[in-house]
Amino acid sequence: MIIAIDGPAGAGKSTVSRMLADRLGCVRLDTGALYRVVGLAATRAGVGPDDPDLGRFVAGLAIDVEPDHIRLDGQDVDRAIRTPEASAAASRYAAVPAVRDALLDLQRRLGRARDTVIDGRDIGTVVFPDADVKIFLTAAPEQRARRRLAELVERGIDADFAAVLADIEQRDKQDSERAVAPLRRADDAVEVDTSRLDLPGSVDRCEAVVRAALGGGSS
Ligand code: CDP
Repeated sequence: MIIAIDGPAGAGKSTVSRMLADRLGCVRLDTGALYRVVGLAATRAGVGPDDPDLGRFVAGLAIDVEPDHIRLDGQDVDRAIRTPEASAAASRYAAVPAVRDALLDLQRRLGRARDTVIDGRDIGTVVFPDADVKIFLTAAPEQRARRRLAELVERGIDADFAAVLADIEQRDKQDSERAVAPLRRADDAVEVDTSRLDLPGSVDRCEAVVRAALGGGSS
């Protein structure tokens, strides 16, 4: 079973996906983390977004995905991929078709291995167009910036509201306007706006969507 959750930065995808996966007994696959690792690795290696060898570079990366950890060359990079710089790099490299191609098989392989809640930008449109359930999670940009700021502060990463909002708006633009696999709601996705919902409320709403789609009542 594949449950696809797409949406813009800060809509709550990560936390909602994790909690929903727990409730449903699925694993969660964070595809944003894959793009973040690519951005980090390529930046460190000095391989730019226009480098003709970028596709090969990405295909050759040793990325290990575990439910709550991601490793690059055996090294834990959970923290390094969450900085504002890493977010911006992820979005830049994610616009490159060779990067998306290189990550497509990996995402499909990981998603098919188990019942999975998989979140990203193009899961319902490109990676798993036949997903059993598709949710498009949104919220107003200011609300998303507020949440992202709280997350960063909690992780001890220094940031201010204006910079976080600017980053979110910049990535919304970049992610929606890119030519390949832009961020958009799949025609058959159910939109869940979390602007006025707290976290448990958002998870409840998504769980209801899943249960309705799978034909079960509430359990
Ligand atoms: O958590 P947040 O929504 O801020 O970002 P993320 O999901 O970790 O994704 C980081 C960046 O990776 C996004 O801004 C997208 O540019 C890119 N991405 C993508 O293009 N396709 C995906 N399936 C997931 C992420």
